[in-house]
Amino acid sequence: VPAARDRLRIAIQKSGRLGEPARALLASCGLSWRESRDKLFCYGETLPVDLLLVRDDDIPGLLADGVCDYGIVGRNVLEEFAAERAGGGKPAVSKEIRPLGFGGCRLDIAVPDAWEWEGPQQLQGKRIATSYPGLLAKWLAEQQVEAGVVMLSGSVEIAPRLGQADVICDLVSSGATLVANQLKPAVTIMQSEAVLAGPLQPFSDIRGELAQMLLRRLDGVLRLKD
Ligand code: PRP
Ligand code: ZN
Ligand code: MG
Repeated sequence: VPAARDRLRIAIQKSGRLGEPARALLASCGLSWRESRDKLFCYGETLPVDLLLVRDDDIPGLLADGVCDYGIVGRNVLEEFAAERAGGGKPAVSKEIRPLGFGGCRLDIAVPDAWEWEGPQQLQGKRIATSYPGLLAKWLAEQQVEAGVVMLSGSVEIAPRLGQADVICDLVSSGATLVANQLKPAVTIMQSEAVLAGPLQPFSDIRGELAQMLLRRLDGVLRLKD
């Protein structure tokens, strides 16, 4: 589906924690859609605003490539993408437009229950498993700590038990995953929630007016939710 310049395309999570609330929030802005057969693309009916249902981790890249105009994604995913780009000397391509007030969680360093946590210096020389190597590297540099980073795209919490890492750096929401894996939160490196991500500069074509209208409606809905 080539990007149409007279419609807005918003990427949201296909399944997982943010997908349904993201869709509900956009619906409360007066949007409605006709679903495609495979349910991956939703064609906007009340307004020319379409949805693309994807893996959350793919949303920053879709924005960067101009495949989507906006995305609803965790701040952690957006900032990780930016941190990895920055690490490779590449400039920012998108930014957080609005925090959306749902999907709250923390990116924490978590350590085995048996550890007595004494501070970041304790991580010196340790191996840290994470799906957020960019954010972790940035934080470690700020703390002037040198540690090994073990990149895992999922099941990070099991790494210490497997002897793959000493500690982890992962998202914590209820804390149940940590408890189930005999880990405990030690320090928070980022507070996250769902955000609307979008372009650095306003659109200069018809999408600019559409985007303004959508943001006005969104701000109205978010005010009501407070
Ligand atoms: C995150 C994180 C933990 C879990 C923590 O994964 O990686 O596994 O949530 O939540 P809790 O504190 O409420 O137990 P998530 O399921 O969001 O996504 P993922 O499949 O990409 O790991
Ligand atoms: Zn994910
Ligand atoms: Mg998980």
